[in-house]
Amino acid sequence: MSRPAVAEQIIPVPLGERSYDIVLRPGLLATLGSKLGALTTSPKVGVVTDRHVASHYLQGALRSLREAGYDPTPIILPPGERTKTLGTIAKVLDVLARHKFERQSLLLALGGGVVGDITGFAAAIYQRGIPYVQVPTTLVAQVDSSVGGKTGVDHRLGKNLIGAFYQPRAVLIDPLTLRTLPRREWIAGLAEVIKYGIITDEEFFVFLEQEMPALVKLADAPVMHVIKRSCEIKAEVVAGDERESDRRRILNYGHTIGHALESLAGYRGLIHGEAVGIGLVQEADLACHMGLCAHEVVERIRRLVQRAGLSEQVPRTAFAPIWKAMQHDKKVAEGRVVGVWPVRIGAVTIQPIERQICAEWLQAAQDRGHQSPSGRRQVRAPARQKTRARK
Ligand SMILES: NC(=O)c1ccc[n+]([C@@H]2O[C@H](COP(=O)([O-])OP(=O)(O)OC[C@H]3O[C@@H](n4cnc5c(N)ncnc54)[C@H](O)[C@@H]3O)[C@@H](O)[C@H]2O)c1
Ligand SMILES: [Zn+2]
Repeated sequence: MSRPAVAEQIIPVPLGERSYDIVLRPGLLATLGSKLGALTTSPKVGVVTDRHVASHYLQGALRSLREAGYDPTPIILPPGERTKTLGTIAKVLDVLARHKFERQSLLLALGGGVVGDITGFAAAIYQRGIPYVQVPTTLVAQVDSSVGGKTGVDHRLGKNLIGAFYQPRAVLIDPLTLRTLPRREWIAGLAEVIKYGIITDEEFFVFLEQEMPALVKLADAPVMHVIKRSCEIKAEVVAGDERESDRRRILNYGHTIGHALESLAGYRGLIHGEAVGIGLVQEADLACHMGLCAHEVVERIRRLVQRAGLSEQVPRTAFAPIWKAMQHDKKVAEGRVVGVWPVRIGAVTIQPIERQICAEWLQAAQDRGHQSPSGRRQVRAPARQKTRARK
């Protein structure tokens, strides 16, 4: 991306006294320090990041903070999901305590969803809560994990099993950071973007249908629009249901099957967005099987997911482990799996599904996948279940 003369976009997240802004601007990272003025009265800022992100962006961020009069302390973590543990939280808290961070001291989460979830949770519990700001650097983090206040870490027995709802004071997004993101991570993030079109906004879905070739190449204007529109949709859904009792559940579309596949693959074969890409298509197919949407809806979703370069085939695997993994997901009510199903592009319904219907569908879907030319895109059948899936 060349540095475009794009105006700053501000997207409010209205949550009463916990309201905050999402600020979006190419090049924002270079002026990070100037954005924190209203958010803290203390000069101490802990900059939590991981080694990959630090190698690209930490020095610039520290320089900008110092220029604005802050006293930053970098906290550099190993990259990857395996860092998202209570052990890491203990290490972050150690640094904060040793450096005498106080109630008004600020944490910055400079990185992807892993860094964001860890930083938010550490901020939620240090001295019963200190302010934090999200500076997301992956597409997943810029359109999803940095907004909404879900924070936490994994446990041996389950992903995201430990955590808190704790809102950031701001989300500061510099889309230029996406230039260094590995391509696989970029493409995987597009699954979450497609999800927003399916659940609430047909016009956005049409935009994605038209612009997917440019998006795959990371073209400036469509990337800005995608981040802005995704944040608006997430903000609107979260504002209506901060603690995920009802409406916020629509954000789980694609994640019931997606999480099951991720969990069965032991969180190794597939990264999250890749599993969600399969979930987007297969949950639409299942909705069609249940008579909730037309076949054309499934085919539009399938085509868009394919054009993003994502796989859409459910792996050839037995029904029982998939059903079990779907039940381990938290969208379970009284032994049935409650799913989010498209009724058309831009609208979904939340309903339980019975075991027998899901079993019939899986058999049919796998038979079709096996016969179709796109069956080549199947991911390898997962070996065993490692941990329970949670968003
Ligand atoms: N809190 C929520 O609401 C929420 C929502 C969705 C996902 N999540 C969580 O987010 C995590 C996944 O986040 P993610 O997909 O961002 O993964 P991630 O944080 O692991 O980042 C992916 C990889 O990209 C690297 N990276 C990050 N930014 C980079 C950049 N600009 N240039 C080069 N490399 C960069 C990281 O070091 C890492 O290796 C999961 O733990 C998931 O549970 C949370
Ligand atoms: Zn997701």
